[in-house]
Parts: sequence; C-alpha cells; structure tokens
Amino acid sequence: MTSKKIIAVMGATGAQGGGLVRAILDDSDGGFAVRAITRNAGGDRAKALASLGAEVVEADVDDAESLKSAFEGAYGAYCVTFYWEHFSPQKELAQAGNMAAAASHAGLEHVIWSTLEDTRQWVPLSDDRMPTLMEKYKVPHFDAKGEANALFTSRGVPVTFLLTSFYWDNLIHFGMGPKPGTDGKLVFTLPMGDRKLPGIASEDIGRCAYGIFRKGRDYIGRTVGITGGHLTGEEMADSLSKALGREVVYNAITPEVYRGLGFPGAEDLGNMFQFKHDFESYFCGVRKLDESRELNPSLQTFDDWLEHNKQSIPLE
Ligand SMILES: NC(=O)c1ccc[n+]([C@@H]2O[C@H](COP(=O)([O-])OP(=O)(O)OC[C@H]3O[C@@H](n4cnc5c(N)ncnc54)[C@H](OP(=O)(O)O)[C@@H]3O)[C@@H](O)[C@H]2O)c1
Repeated sequence: MTSKKIIAVMGATGAQGGGLVRAILDDSDGGFAVRAITRNAGGDRAKALASLGAEVVEADVDDAESLKSAFEGAYGAYCVTFYWEHFSPQKELAQAGNMAAAASHAGLEHVIWSTLEDTRQWVPLSDDRMPTLMEKYKVPHFDAKGEANALFTSRGVPVTFLLTSFYWDNLIHFGMGPKPGTDGKLVFTLPMGDRKLPGIASEDIGRCAYGIFRKGRDYIGRTVGITGGHLTGEEMADSLSKALGREVVYNAITPEVYRGLGFPGAEDLGNMFQFKHDFESYFCGVRKLDESRELNPSLQTFDDWLEHNKQSIPLE
C-alpha cells in the first residue's frame, strides 16, 4: 500500500490527463501516486502508462458505479469530459454529475474540474450576435462545462475550477494548421481578427494541474485560468513562418464564414472564437501567464511548442 496521495486521473490516455500522469510520474519524490483511469486497461496507451509506473484502473465516465470504485481510496481526482466524442452538452453534464457524485462518495480531498466558461453569462440566448445552437446554448462545448461547475459545489466537493486554453496541438490533430494557398504560401485561418487567443501546449494543462495539486488547500474553491501565451493570429503566423521556414500568412475570416465551413462542430467553434474575440480582455485576463508558469515551471511558449512539434503539423 502506498503512503503517497493517490490522484485518480480521468482521460489518462489522452491529452489533458496524460500530461498530469506524466507530471506525477516524473516527480517520484513529490508525494503523489497516480491512478490512470481508462476504459481499456489492455490498450497500448494504458499499458504504456502502467510500464511507467501508473496504477491502471478501468472505468467509464458514463457508468457512475465504475467511477465510485475508481475514485475509492484516492486523495484527489482530475475530472475532464470528452465533448468531441459525442457532441452532446447533455451527455457532458451527466458525465460531470457522475464524477462529482463519485468524488463526494469517495470523500476526496481535492478535485480539479477541467471546465470552461458558460458563455451564456456574457451572451444570453436573446443576444443575436451569434446563433443559438441546440436550442439552449451559444457555445455548447463551453456552456455545459460551465453549467456543470454547480454539480461539484452543490455536493460540497472540494474543487478547483481549471479554465483551460486553446490547444496549440489543434494545429496537428484538429485540422487547424496552415494550408497551402493558391500562390504557394501557407495560409493560417482563424476568425480572431486582431485579437489575442490564449493558447497552450496540451501537455502543459496536466502539468499545471499537478502544480495545483501540489499547492493543495490554497487552491480549493478557486477558479484558475492557464495559458502558455496570448497571441494574435498575425503573431502565430509569424512564429509558424520562422519554425517552418516558409511564409505563413494569417487569414482572418469572420465567425460567420467559420460557422459555415461545414465540418462537424464548425458552428460551435465559430461561436467559441467569436466569444473569445468579443470578450478578449476578460478571456485573456483570467488566463494568467505568470501563475501558469509558477504552477508549471516547464511551461512552453508557442515557439517552444513549435520547435518540438513543427514536423507533426500536416501542411496539406
Ligand atoms: N482542443 C482544445 O483546444 C481544447 C481546449 C480546452 C478544452 N478542451 C476540452 O478537452 C476535452 C477533452 O480532453 P482531452 O483533449 O484530454 O481528450 P483526449 O485527448 O481526446 O482523450 C480523451 C481520453 O478520454 C478517455 N475517454 C473517452 N471517453 C471516455 C469514457 N466514456 N469514459 C472514460 N474515459 C473516456 C479516452 O481514454 P480510453 O480510450 O483509454 O478510455 C481518451 O484517451 C473536451 O471536452 C474539450 O472540450 C479542448
């Protein structure tokens, strides 16, 4: 039996949870042990975590009883939902409720809920600057996370609300990287005008979360916004040009055009970028670079991230 404080990590084989698992394992004297939660302990990514020293436990965020067992005996939990697997805010709310119930049942001492803003507090459904989606949301994958905050507090879960930022990894995995234009230059398209977009290396989200667990009680009840940098589309294109050794031109399209791009989730993301654009000073202000670096001294800038990842950005 370990005397270390066990952190149960949802999404352990994915981006956010994976960063936290590696941060805990990298700090063997830090006083924490990690329980990596997966639906499939026999999968390659779960086996890789086990070989690094993680305890691997199976549970499904849709199965409340499996979460109760998975959180039992732990000190804390990292809770994240997986919106892009199902595109359903209702499902996301139910999943957050399952995790909050399991955290309360297990008597956890510190939970981090990876949340985002309920944008309806800034853009009520009656505000027609952007369309209402799915009848009751403006940015469905943000709004449900923000709405779910109350599911943790109403159960008295000792929680830190973690406001994450746009993953720079979206340039690799989400088709958001530069694409060839008609003149041979690369074109980087974002509907952000001249406003700043807080971004982060997805690996750093879990590393910042580890810093929050290390700080412990001081962070319970707090909302913490993290970022690796606030950059305009122009600044991102300049960094991309330097890293790739090819000219990258920023193409600032409107949110309307972005919503009409037709890929699954385009309307949701178009509204999201419009929210970040229209409320730039709030959105950047709450995502603090200094505090993120204090929580995670190895925090990467966009240039650092590009240096390590430029070869993985598809340019077709
Ligand atoms: N992309 C962005 O810029 C961005 C920015 C901020 C926030 N987010 C949010 O980040 C969230 C996703 O986190 P992520 O990027 O870390 O996810 P991810 O890399 O896609 O990983 C998700 C992991 O969760 C596990 N999982 C999926 N469904 C599950 C279920 N039903 N029960 C238990 N585990 C399940 C899977 O592991 P197994 O297969 O091993 O079970 C998978 O490895 C989304 O809600 C998104 O809105 C994204």
